[in-house]
Amino acid sequence: MNIKNDLLLRAAHGLYTERVPVWLMRQAGRILPEYRAIRERLSGFKELVTTPALAAEVTLQPVHLLHVDAAIIFSDILVIPEAMGLPYDMYESKGPLFVRTISSKNDIDKLNATTAHENLTYVYEAIRTVKKELNGSIPLIGFAGAPWTLLAYMVEGHGSKTFSKAKKFLYTQPQEAHELLEKITTVTIQYLHQQIIAGADIVQIFDSWAGILSPEQYTEFSLKYIAQICKAISTVPVIVFAKGAFFARKQMAETDCSVIGLDWNMDAIESRNIIGHNKTLQGNLDPCVLYASYNEIRKQTQKMIDRFGTQRYIANLGHGVYADTPADNVRCFIDTVKEYSSMKSSFSKTQSFS
Ligand code: CP3
Repeated sequence: MNIKNDLLLRAAHGLYTERVPVWLMRQAGRILPEYRAIRERLSGFKELVTTPALAAEVTLQPVHLLHVDAAIIFSDILVIPEAMGLPYDMYESKGPLFVRTISSKNDIDKLNATTAHENLTYVYEAIRTVKKELNGSIPLIGFAGAPWTLLAYMVEGHGSKTFSKAKKFLYTQPQEAHELLEKITTVTIQYLHQQIIAGADIVQIFDSWAGILSPEQYTEFSLKYIAQICKAISTVPVIVFAKGAFFARKQMAETDCSVIGLDWNMDAIESRNIIGHNKTLQGNLDPCVLYASYNEIRKQTQKMIDRFGTQRYIANLGHGVYADTPADNVRCFIDTVKEYSSMKSSFSKTQSFS
């Protein structure tokens, strides 16, 4: 199906865009009072994730309320460990907690890597519903966690500042770590394929804990598997967002991904020089800018666009939007990207024709 506003897909493919497309990581969530209202009448986060009609409804909220250029399917990266046999619970203000964790080869052997993707039909169903509702207006982003980030939660059992238990696993049981990463990679590829069949137009891999590994460990335990996923997904563009992995930008450019997501520690011009011109860049405003005044938000957003340029670029934050960000400030960011980048693109087009 042709998509009416396909700016995001054109940017991902390196085609001309008359303005910069914009969306936000975590746009579907607590920043919207409409999301909080639905959440309040449910037993918890997981009910929302596993009920396709509700997941579809909250996926569409930022589309209607914020006018972003793409929807991202409402789910969580932790649905894969659960589908493999490691259930989790989500606790208010504490985050995820796994009932059991992985610490041995025996634990890994028990994980399901062959049919796990079949346990995630509620995600595919939500995608089909969203696609129907979007009716070709804007693209839908599917996603999965990077194998390393999922391993981190599966070994640690919960969030952590250092993930030292997970890192210890890499140093003390590297063979087991690779076995686990291979299993997660297999399931992730099948899962993303099913998301694409259901209607995802582009997919993003979230490597949220990339930045806690050494460059050497990152190459061995994370990038290798991300590269395998990028290679296996050939029908839609892949966005890789590896938070904190400034040291891996050059290697990232050598994978088959189309888009590289940057966090706010990575400079736009430096990143373009390292990555080259064959990839689209995405990012990278500090989410904390959205706590500032409209004037400051506009100033910082315009500066970001000046540095990235208007082509081969997707505007976003450098990480997920924080839950207590006022929705109007998010709107200010989105509107600034749209207005400022259309003005800049048309100006540079007239310039190049004159
Ligand atoms: O709008 C979107 O971006 C789509 C939805 C989405 C969620 N989680 C919903 C969610 C996406 C893409 C994710 C990915 C995700 N989940 C990541 C990678 C992105 C990142 O932020 O680095 C990670 C690490 C997780 C795991 C996770 N899920 C944690 C650590 C937490 C607790 C922290 C928190 O923000 O509350 C979650 C919960 C979660 N996932 C919420 C949402 C909207 C909040 C739960 C609630 O509504 O109470």
